[in-house]
Amino acid sequence: MKADVILGLQWGDEGKGKIVDLLAPSYDIIARFQGGPNAGHTIEIGGRKHILHLIPSGIFHPGIQNLIGNGVIIDPVIFRQETEGLKETGIHPAETLLISDRAHLILPTHRLLDACYEQSKAEKKIGSTLKGIGPAYTDKTARIGLRTGDLTDRDFRTRYELLKKHHLQLAAAAGISSNDILIDGLSLDAYEKAWFESLEVLLAFKMVDNALFLNRSLERGMKVLAEGAQGTLLDVDFGSYPYVTSSSTTAGGVSTGLGIPPSRIGEVYGVFKAYCTRVGNGPFPTELNDETGQLLRDLGHEYGSTTGRPRRCGWLDLPALRYAIMINGVSRLIMMKADVLNHLPEIGVCTQYRIDDRLSDFPEARESASVFEAACIALPGWQSEPDPALPFDSQPDAFKSYVSFIEKAVDRKISVLSLGAERNQTLMRDRE
Ligand code: GDP
Ligand code: IMO
Ligand code: MG
Repeated sequence: MKADVILGLQWGDEGKGKIVDLLAPSYDIIARFQGGPNAGHTIEIGGRKHILHLIPSGIFHPGIQNLIGNGVIIDPVIFRQETEGLKETGIHPAETLLISDRAHLILPTHRLLDACYEQSKAEKKIGSTLKGIGPAYTDKTARIGLRTGDLTDRDFRTRYELLKKHHLQLAAAAGISSNDILIDGLSLDAYEKAWFESLEVLLAFKMVDNALFLNRSLERGMKVLAEGAQGTLLDVDFGSYPYVTSSSTTAGGVSTGLGIPPSRIGEVYGVFKAYCTRVGNGPFPTELNDETGQLLRDLGHEYGSTTGRPRRCGWLDLPALRYAIMINGVSRLIMMKADVLNHLPEIGVCTQYRIDDRLSDFPEARESASVFEAACIALPGWQSEPDPALPFDSQPDAFKSYVSFIEKAVDRKISVLSLGAERNQTLMRDRE
């Protein structure tokens, strides 16, 4: 068996959570491969909204095994909050969730450092979610991090204190004392207390060597779905660096984040919105800083699932989409939130970038260009409501034209069209 993958093709928040939840019943195991509590994956079931940060989006299906992979970084406090929230809705994650014994831990002082580094960047801030992502992945690659498997070691507390001391020295060197910054409204000491108390909850979960577990499961014919967080344009290598997150959000991250070899990756489902959003700073060629941008934000409820920040909104960016499809080897495309565009008379689409006096089909280095613009065209809106219960052929003509225009531009079929946040607001073209 091969493992399939679902990942984001833009700047995150494409709607990955909805799609993982929807496709989960066809799989035995859902495994998150990277990122941490910077993610916010929303699943709406029967009018009730659930937001997951660390726990895979298969958790609402009884009988499906969920796994947090070695590529994920875990803040025990947020993990505890999430498991408690799920219990209130009748879901008991301990029954179906496994955790890698190699996932790195986000320490309270990683969060302190995150805030510290952002402060020192002045107008060049990344717009981090301040969940400690950058500093925790830094320690992972610097080979000084602490992992879930270390929690039961006798010298864990000593190693924790050493790392904390190192972090406080770094903060002090940046001119910041631990008293200057609150973590989710708490002092460092209070957050640390909650952190240690939360370890008990984390330790109640079964820890596994996920590479062994997943490869054996695949050999036994079990179906695995890898769930990505963030999006391709936030990838630490292939995103709009330095305005990126600190993990590999692309298909390569599945191998390093779960221990599944590239030869064992099957379908790669690429999820994108029918327009673009970005939360945080960094380049966004099709951004609309006008009333149309505000309209997209209002109609699409474009406010961050993790931080509540308003998301920047703009038209669909085809050069960036082409690039994301290439980097990930996307085999199937999933277009989300087309319903947000239902009543617009015209819809803009960026077909190329204008770089000085030439046009380009792909993103490329732009630092030296004096002109860098998104070259957009306007397509007619469908000004009606496509019905997900009907086959694609019966949908409004302008809607079908919008879909085929994108398919032609990126040379891939769009297999799934999402027309609302609920499970049943989805048109599965493969099942027609
Ligand atoms: P993720 O991080 O990729 O899982 O996406 P988020 O959950 O951060 O953001 C997607 C938002 O859009 C959530 O509020 C979803 O409930 C919502 N959503 C998902 N699919 C659709 C859709 O097709 N139409 C509309 N209107 N909302 C959707
Ligand atoms: P999901 O999985 C959207 C953005 C932040 C910031 C940058 C770096 O819900 O799609 P970090 O906290 O990682 O240091 O932030 O990345 N970012 C996201 N944007 N969706 C996400 O996750 C994101 N996770 C991080 O806003 O610009
Ligand atoms: Mg999100």
